[in-house]
Amino acid sequence: MVQINRNYLKLKAGYLFPEISRRVNAFSQANPQSSLIRLGIGDVTEPLPQACCKAMKDAVEEMGTSSGFHGYGPEQGYPWLREAIAKNDFQARGCQISADEIFVSDGSKCDSSNILDILGEDNRIAVTDPVYPVYVDSNVMSGRTGDADQSGQYGGLSYIPLNSENGFEAELPLEPVDLIYLCFPNNPTGAVASKEHLAKWVNYANQNNALILFDAAYEAFIQDPLLPHSIFEIDGSRNCAIEFRSFSKKAGFTGTRCAYTVIPKSVHGSTANGNKVDLWTLWNRRQSTKFNGVSYIVQRGAEAVYSLSGQLQTEKLVSFYMQNASIIRKELSSAGYKVFGGEHAPYVWIEAPKGQNSWQFFDYLLQNANVVGTPGSGFGTAGEGYFRLSAFNSRENVEEAMKRIIRI
Ligand code: MLT
Repeated sequence: MVQINRNYLKLKAGYLFPEISRRVNAFSQANPQSSLIRLGIGDVTEPLPQACCKAMKDAVEEMGTSSGFHGYGPEQGYPWLREAIAKNDFQARGCQISADEIFVSDGSKCDSSNILDILGEDNRIAVTDPVYPVYVDSNVMSGRTGDADQSGQYGGLSYIPLNSENGFEAELPLEPVDLIYLCFPNNPTGAVASKEHLAKWVNYANQNNALILFDAAYEAFIQDPLLPHSIFEIDGSRNCAIEFRSFSKKAGFTGTRCAYTVIPKSVHGSTANGNKVDLWTLWNRRQSTKFNGVSYIVQRGAEAVYSLSGQLQTEKLVSFYMQNASIIRKELSSAGYKVFGGEHAPYVWIEAPKGQNSWQFFDYLLQNANVVGTPGSGFGTAGEGYFRLSAFNSRENVEEAMKRIIRI
């Protein structure tokens, strides 16, 4: 009989969001009259920016002509999109990133998992706790961890706590690590990293020949102009960091699918006998073999994000969700909840009241307020007792959800 990948059996439970859906579906079937408000998974709800729709419609028309038809595109993305990204997202902020260091893809979730293909199996890995579960689960699946202990933490991973005591700042690890996952603005806590905070990590990585995998999927939600949007705003980062970015949250592309990964040509890893190898070449090889690129139509849509109207429309989208976040923060703080995040991120991180654990509070809200959130413990042991509310919903639903939560 065919053998399975035994590492999958180490995974604790279902992936967090399908598990939430399972519970919510069971509740809905038992209570068909209930009107649920979903502030769980961070999935956008507002329509695509018009500039993106128009660009995609035009691209569809073009594809229907002999002269405008496109077959396979470059696996790395079309040069015009890579140029627009490099210029607007990096060079405009003073980062030395060139178009050929951008790899366009269909999502940061896939990229942040697939990157393990080009990295050795013996790297010592650090993740924050709480953490976006994909980083941990993809390491488990690829056999880079031991089993989970009683508390749910996997052997072989170093966990860096993010909590209110340390101001949700990722402190440097006490034990040496080679690979570090950082996500700022942070999913799930909504915390943000200052330049000084990131500089500490860049220095650590350079001094220890480590690699930072920096997930900046939520950078567009940063409100303070002094905060960094990219790890490449930090001196020395070109030698030690890879960054993941996405159009999902910023431009409403969760269903359209477009993202990108930045790998500077100056970032290297090492072979077992100490020879330096650049990661750009390995990732380029990986993508050329395993990926056929994002569709021409979608890349045209993503390119339109950088047009004048696209920029205005995406700013409006972001600001809409940030107003939701601000309503959630304000209403829940006034009601006595301990509230974090939500100022530079579309996630508000709250302490579950009355000593409830995360899943107890999840069930309590689901049953009594018909509001769906995400249990903090689903993001790691240190998330226990916390709860994440997403700002991605209509204004009406956010206001109604707040009324219901405050009432119970
Ligand atoms: C979340 O809710 O954490 C996000 O939707 C996850 C993702 O972007 O994959």
